[in-house]
Amino acid sequence: MASISRADVEAPIGEVLVSADELQRRVRELGAEISRDYAGRSLLLVGVLKGAVFFLSDLMRSIEIPVELDFMAVASYGSATDSSGVVRILKDLDVVIEGRDVLIVEDIVDSGLTLQYLIRNLGSRNPRTLEVCALLTKPERRKVDLPTRYVGFEIPDRFVVGYGLDYAERHRNLPYVAAFER
Ligand code: IMP
Ligand code: MG
Repeated sequence: MASISRADVEAPIGEVLVSADELQRRVRELGAEISRDYAGRSLLLVGVLKGAVFFLSDLMRSIEIPVELDFMAVASYGSATDSSGVVRILKDLDVVIEGRDVLIVEDIVDSGLTLQYLIRNLGSRNPRTLEVCALLTKPERRKVDLPTRYVGFEIPDRFVVGYGLDYAERHRNLPYVAAFER
């Protein structure tokens, strides 16, 4: 992260790629779809800190089946904008997931390396089912093939901030998703 300068962090916000209205509409659709797919069961949402928190809190309120919440925090070694696939767990789940229906909630799938690690790690704990719900995906950047059952929006290969996504911890609070040109 040493390469981030103050001028970078304070660069202006670029073009809005997903508006606040589009976000809210799509999140409600995903909540309805998840509620239908898991009808009659109970679901454990696993939010990946910190970026997924904003999406997760809206998504969870549009799910109408019994649902519980837990979090993981992971750090991916690499530069500020590229993950290496070497992932370290900073905070593990509080609960045991064996036999449970688990849905990982992520902000964005970029290379897919972070999620690949999470799927392997959580999968080895023998959940009943394990699926992924990602708000955003950048298909052009994918390095590994991943089963992402629910996706909010496909976006082009641009670095984005807002609605949880950060650049050097800034701009998570924007109510929309915008490009950030450094
Ligand atoms: P991956 O391991 O390359 O798929 O990277 C996933 C993580 O990188 C996400 O959970 C984000 O924290 C971060 N990330 C990837 N692309 C962006 C972006 O465009 N804006 C902000 N964070 C991003
Ligand atoms: Mg991040």
